[in-house]
Amino acid sequence: MLVSAKEMLEKAKAGKYAVGQFNINNLEWTKAILLTAQECNSPVILGVSEGAGKYMCGYETIVGMVKGMIKCLNITVPVALHLDHGSYEGAKACINAGFSSVMFDGSHYPIEENIAKTTELVNACNVLGISLEAEVGSIGGEEDGVVGAGECADPNECKMVADLGVTMLAAGIGNIHGKYPANWAGLNFDVLAAISEKTGDMPLVLHGGTGIPEDMIKKAISLGVSKINVNTECQLSFAAATRKYVEEGKDLSGKGFDPRKLLAPGFEAIKATVKEKMELFGSVNKA
Ligand code: 13P
Repeated sequence: MLVSAKEMLEKAKAGKYAVGQFNINNLEWTKAILLTAQECNSPVILGVSEGAGKYMCGYETIVGMVKGMIKCLNITVPVALHLDHGSYEGAKACINAGFSSVMFDGSHYPIEENIAKTTELVNACNVLGISLEAEVGSIGGEEDGVVGAGECADPNECKMVADLGVTMLAAGIGNIHGKYPANWAGLNFDVLAAISEKTGDMPLVLHGGTGIPEDMIKKAISLGVSKINVNTECQLSFAAATRKYVEEGKDLSGKGFDPRKLLAPGFEAIKATVKEKMELFGSVNKA
């Protein structure tokens, strides 16, 4: 069932667990995540970055693929198809293409401009029943080989954006995308607690889910995080399993070069990673 992320995140916030957003890159990724969600009886959010959107031949292709898979695979758990870190134009394009959820990442704008653009999208999304994620305090990560420290959001700015009527709010709390450097200071729980107190029932989003230790994930959920984004970890699992298959020479034996065989270990590896995260986040049997 393709649905907005609103209800699943409100339930997660009230029930003190988190729904995973897993980013998709192709058919195998999407199928692996949808099947695992169904097997775990868990709600799920499929994340699509603008880059992945271009790679998969545009948002309409993705909507077609996801809707087709939900039908063909009999997926009955709630699934949201969500634009990840969208620009203003990207968010509008996804709304028009049939996504059920979008993120507008205005964190790099001055707060007044972030608020103005987010407000316009709140109105459009409300009319269409689409969930909207906003961001305050940009999330660091690797860019051109330089790993930036994760910024911490200002709790007062978080309240201002939460009050616009967005569905969920991403706030920087020292988290970064990609692998965490050895000298990472960890999540800033004081900032998270202050944001949570100011924003009340608003489901909070933790980006950069790859490599955050389990105890920090659990503590973040206890302090109001209801959506956790995971991307790199599925890529690493897929790559390691594919490498093993090739290094063992399996592509050279029989019909091992058939893409349906060659990509199968990576597909299973994504499934295992997604299952592990759903168990950790507490979303199993919450569909
Ligand atoms: P990771 O790649 O670090 O898991 O982050 C994913 C993410 O936050 C997507 O928005």
